Amino acid sequence: MKHVFKQGIVDAPTLLLLHGTGGTERDLLPLAEALAPQASVLGLRGNVLENGMPRFFRRLAEGVFDEEDLVLRTHELHDYVGEAAAQYGFDRSRVIAVGYSNGANMAASLLFHYKDALAGAVLHHPMVPLRGIALPDLSGTPVWIGAGTNDPICAPGETEQLERLLSGAGASVEVHWERQGHQLTGTEVRAAADWFARHF
Ligand code: MLT
Repeated sequence: MKHVFKQGIVDAPTLLLLHGTGGTERDLLPLAEALAPQASVLGLRGNVLENGMPRFFRRLAEGVFDEEDLVLRTHELHDYVGEAAAQYGFDRSRVIAVGYSNGANMAASLLFHYKDALAGAVLHHPMVPLRGIALPDLSGTPVWIGAGTNDPICAPGETEQLERLLSGAGASVEVHWERQGHQLTGTEVRAAADWFARHF
């Protein structure tokens, strides 16, 4: 996959950056800097194009996902992270996803499909990626969700459902609410950084 890799200090975890629709592998580098300046960083660009805009999986309409493609792309991305770990020599068991919007949905899909894909996740404005599947045991996996009470794309009920599904699988989930829409604000990023410092 098209990507950027930045080596961090020895023993630091690796942040897997997953952009929103129309983004690139570099979009979330400032977020990585805010969360963990010493971490290694693997920023990916989604393999799917929607009217020229990169995404991590296809959708049929706003908020309506192509589930077959989502599952295929989830496995593809998971395999790619394994290859990148071998190529760059980072610890595959200490990868923490940082995603926004479509990238947060992909990170959530990794959690829905694999027990050990991620050591943790920072999800900015995610949705429930898939319904009707049994989640793996996510005991002890720390997950932070940033949401907006006025988010027209990820309705609050959707955020609450995602929280319930992840918690039900054993993840330790914290939700941070902003009185905002779908945008990523400075206060949301600071709240994520605060959570990150408490967990990693
Ligand atoms: C998605 O398609 O993953 C969500 O609707 C968010 C987005 O617009 O990227």
